[in-house]
Amino acid sequence: MSKPKHPGFATRAIHDGQEPDLSTGAVSVPIYATSTYVQDELGKHRGYEYARVSNPTRDRLEKNLASLEGGVASRVFASGMAAINAICAMFKSGDHIVCGNDLYGGVPRLFNQVLSGYGFEFTFVDTSEARNVERAIGKKTRMVYVETPTNPLMSLSDIKAIAEITRRKKIELVVDNTFMSPYFQQPIALGADMVVHSTTKFLNGHSDGLGGVVVCTHQEQAEQLGFVQKAAGAILSPFECWLVLRGTKTLAVRMLQHDCNGRKVAEFLAGHKKVKKVFYPGLKGHPQHELARRQMTGFGSMITFETGSLANAARILKRVRVCTLAESLGGVETLISHPATMTHAALGEKGRKAIGLTDGMVRISVGIEDVDDVLADLDQALA
Ligand SMILES: Cc1ncc(COP(=O)(O)O)c(C=O)c1O
Repeated sequence: MSKPKHPGFATRAIHDGQEPDLSTGAVSVPIYATSTYVQDELGKHRGYEYARVSNPTRDRLEKNLASLEGGVASRVFASGMAAINAICAMFKSGDHIVCGNDLYGGVPRLFNQVLSGYGFEFTFVDTSEARNVERAIGKKTRMVYVETPTNPLMSLSDIKAIAEITRRKKIELVVDNTFMSPYFQQPIALGADMVVHSTTKFLNGHSDGLGGVVVCTHQEQAEQLGFVQKAAGAILSPFECWLVLRGTKTLAVRMLQHDCNGRKVAEFLAGHKKVKKVFYPGLKGHPQHELARRQMTGFGSMITFETGSLANAARILKRVRVCTLAESLGGVETLISHPATMTHAALGEKGRKAIGLTDGMVRISVGIEDVDDVLADLDQALA
């Protein structure tokens, strides 16, 4: 029987880049734990010279992730932040970047406290209105950087509308797709030029390894990023590549369960008298619910809710038993966190106030446990 011509997402997740090893037949991709490779004679090697430049396990993961996002190639890095930094390393001092004003806190920290020192210029705008992006673009603008949905306010940006602007202006659109994963959102199909992920989250899915990826739509981007891997060296180790390869095999089924549990938890929180507001694109009351239905094929499991005060948030976070109080998201276990003092502490009080991030907000990454246990846990913590 011949192979399917257009294999579906779950099939590609399990097979693309995950083919059995040619020399041994091992069904699971081998972990090539080597720093260097034998050369047959001077100037003659078998495609691999030194592990910072390339590694067969890494090649497999890069192929797998490119397939899932619909790109031509991808490059993996030691963390999501290393991937974002690698994209910026493709630009030059004096270049201008337009980015969302409500991003994962580590991104403005990198932009404002590291890269601005090298002559990069940044303008932060509310990208949920595409016209704000257009207004901020100037002669020196090289890239628009968008996170959708945003962390932690779950605000959406219209990828297609922004891509129409960036294409007209001949600049690159980069979308951070960490919250939705390629299972629920396909930014490249909507017009993005590159997609970035913290693979630490849903792609790995088991909270056991850091990583980042940039998925490219042109071979030249992949070559430039490959050069950044070789020159700057923040590559993903073979073992951590393997962890992500193992993770993506179950991405489709995990995302379906995350989404199913996420919807139930969001409905529960929305109906709870102690919860002032719930930020979840799957709720009809979310201001961009219609865009979410158009742009995504699920709503995922990231939810932020307003408890009213720091004291209320602290009390809930101390009382949870099934939910784990920890930074990060996208693992099989439900992780609960306090953005103001954890993921977004680096923004400072003024920065958080400017985007409406309060001390009473709690963020939850709903896992794939039995959802009734998560609901009962939240119920007792809120009581
Ligand atoms: C949306 C998003 N992008 C990027 C990052 C950075 O990824 P990493 O922690 O793997 O460096 C994070 C981390 O939480 C994130 O939430």
